[in-house]
Amino acid sequence: MGDAPNNEQAIQQRVLDNLATAVLVVDRALVTRYINPACEMLLEISARKARGTPLERLISGPDRLFARLRECLDSAHPFTERELPLALFGNRHLTVDCTVTSLHEPQAPGGLLVELVQIDRQLRISREENLIAQHNATRDVVRGLAHEIKNPLGGLRGAAQLLERELADEELKEYTRIIIDEADRLQNLVNRMLGPNALPNKQEVNIHHLLERVRNLVDVEAPAGVELVRDYDPSIPMLQADPDQLIQALLNLARNAVGAVGERGTITLRTRTQRQITIGHERHKLVLVVEVTDDGPGISKEMMEKIFYPMITGAANGTGLGLSIAQSLINRHGGLIECSSEPGHTVFRILLPLEKANDEHR
Ligand SMILES: Nc1ncnc2c1ncn2[C@@H]1O[C@H](COP(=O)(O)OP(=O)(O)OP(=O)(O)O)[C@@H](O)[C@H]1O
Ligand SMILES: [Mg+2]
Repeated sequence: MGDAPNNEQAIQQRVLDNLATAVLVVDRALVTRYINPACEMLLEISARKARGTPLERLISGPDRLFARLRECLDSAHPFTERELPLALFGNRHLTVDCTVTSLHEPQAPGGLLVELVQIDRQLRISREENLIAQHNATRDVVRGLAHEIKNPLGGLRGAAQLLERELADEELKEYTRIIIDEADRLQNLVNRMLGPNALPNKQEVNIHHLLERVRNLVDVEAPAGVELVRDYDPSIPMLQADPDQLIQALLNLARNAVGAVGERGTITLRTRTQRQITIGHERHKLVLVVEVTDDGPGISKEMMEKIFYPMITGAANGTGLGLSIAQSLINRHGGLIECSSEPGHTVFRILLPLEKANDEHR
């Protein structure tokens, strides 16, 4: 008898369970009554735990959000909030478009249907595409230029060396020394501009061993008032990567952080994993996230747009190559470096794929 309604209910249940949009239902007291699997993923909580929990304990957002939810309970007017910043417990932040519809019906207890669409992933993808395109374009220009400088420079240095041998006067040799030393300095710079040309020599590496090497190196160089804090996730699996190249990239970030904090400050090295992340166009099941955070003055908005360009520097004695080299090295591992900054809180985040979305093992 009751076959038809049951069937319909089953279909409705399957629709909700398979919806890519995160959906949750709260009752009139704003206590969570239902969340679908997409919402479990988004809020990183199981439906079992979420059920019966006040919404305020699942997410925190701007005060106006909860005010509008209460308003909607009374007025039954649906609303949409765009680019709403939410914080989850466990401190994750996300940006969502949020649509709220009243479930008010004469006989039903009422409540609200809340739909959440995460948009920071979209924002991040377009930003990343820019970063990668920007990086490829400038790298080609710089490489071309560096090559052009390299050949005549070799000739110059060779000629100065020959001349040096011919000179009897030690005092005159001082001039040829200067030519040779400066040519060497330029040669070094040009080599750095050309970037690492060796393909990554991949092997199984433990990211925490590499980070400890970097921490020790930087600890020696940094002023005494600079504290280096570790916040490692010990469950991170081994990674296929070139250890020297990763150390180089990490060092470049860590040294910038030291430069930024000056005599006193805190630099944090943090590791985490994230699931289902897209880097460029490729989707990955599991991604390693390494963050180098400092509490220095931060990066201005104008500077931010170009810090990954080669030869861009805000430091008096910088060459402006550190970040572009680091980005190159990480790109070669299929990863990406992103940056966000506000005064007192600058984060450089390295994303490195641990597992692709649809292959068993790499
Ligand atoms: N953590 C940070 N805080 C503030 N500014 C930063 C930070 N990291 C980088 N920057 C800015 O970005 C610029 C570019 O950094 P990049 O590492 O590419 O070059 P550099 O440090 O100037 O020179 P080098 O080639 O020696 O690394 C820096 O000069 C600095 O102005
Ligand atoms: Mg640098």
